[in-house]
Amino acid sequence: MTTRIIGTGRSVPSRKVTNDDLAKIMDTSDEWIYTRTGIHNRHLVETETTTDMAADAAKQAMEKAGVGSEEIELIIVGTVSGDMCYPSTACLVQERIGAVNAVAYDISAGCSGFLFALNAAHAYISSGVYKCALVLGAETLSKMMDWSDRSTCVLFGDGAGAAVVKADATGIKAITQHSDGAGGGVLTCENRASNNPYVKNEITLPYTKMAGQDVFKFAVKMVPRCIQDVVEKAGMSVEDVDYFLLHQANKRIIESVSKRLNVPIEKFPTNIEHYGNTSAASIPILLDELNSAGTFKKGDVIVMSGFGAGLTWGATLLEW
Ligand code: ACO
Repeated sequence: MTTRIIGTGRSVPSRKVTNDDLAKIMDTSDEWIYTRTGIHNRHLVETETTTDMAADAAKQAMEKAGVGSEEIELIIVGTVSGDMCYPSTACLVQERIGAVNAVAYDISAGCSGFLFALNAAHAYISSGVYKCALVLGAETLSKMMDWSDRSTCVLFGDGAGAAVVKADATGIKAITQHSDGAGGGVLTCENRASNNPYVKNEITLPYTKMAGQDVFKFAVKMVPRCIQDVVEKAGMSVEDVDYFLLHQANKRIIESVSKRLNVPIEKFPTNIEHYGNTSAASIPILLDELNSAGTFKKGDVIVMSGFGAGLTWGATLLEW
């Protein structure tokens, strides 16, 4: 028994912000951002929250799957930007959708969050613990940006994506996941500093700090390797794969992975131009766009690959 995706959904804030909009408030340009990243627009929250977008995406995924809220046994949200430290975003979503029979928790794996959530659900489902799960990636990274750091803030956008998965004979064929805590310093956002009657620290609002070129080098080295690995585990070759759905961090990273794998770029759909890097939400948003457009046929082989803070990275190969 394996895990099959039977419904998907996505939600982004209504406020679209173009590169030209950003150029009005900081020293940047559409030309600089687009040529280095492939991003034209991103959506940023005004009234929406991480939970709002996650619940919206979840409802769409359940409707497309034809699954009622009481059927869901497990909710896992990949996020680093929930509305609350606790309860988890997953528990907040559980309440919104009325999934009273589910156990719910979050996974913190940066931009690999959705993939790791999907793989965790797969572990439960393939071992017979649960039959039906809801997995999400949901982020409001805009609140964690230093908007005076133009080299980082222009890259990110807000959004959420969801998938309902169920036990089935067809679906996930192989997974691979990795972490390198020693390398994690290149992409960080601190939590609150220690503060109690015996230690006093200044209360500050920490922001995302990124060594962009180091993250770039990490991604172009490790992503092709883990894709090769997952394809071999499934007893296939990269030529057998119909679609590669990569975390949408930077179009140049995706182009480099396509070259290193010697696979045509046409097999790497992208939407980074419209949403920027939505971290854990990027893969499920792309998945839902393609699924809603009727792109996937039964039997198509899809590889998803996430990479990000931790460092964390991995890939999942499935048959649609
Ligand atoms: N607009 C205009 N100029 C800028 C901007 C901006 N938004 N940001 C930086 N610059 C300037 C810099 O000040 C610098 O100017 P200088 O040469 O006068 O000092 C120049 O542009 C080059 O800056 P670099 O940081 O060296 O630019 P680089 O070519 O490395 O591109 C980028 C930066 C786009 C972040 C690149 O390193 C990258 O794509 N890294 C990958 C990181 C990534 O994708 N992270 C996503 C999050 S992590 C994840 O999802 C896994």
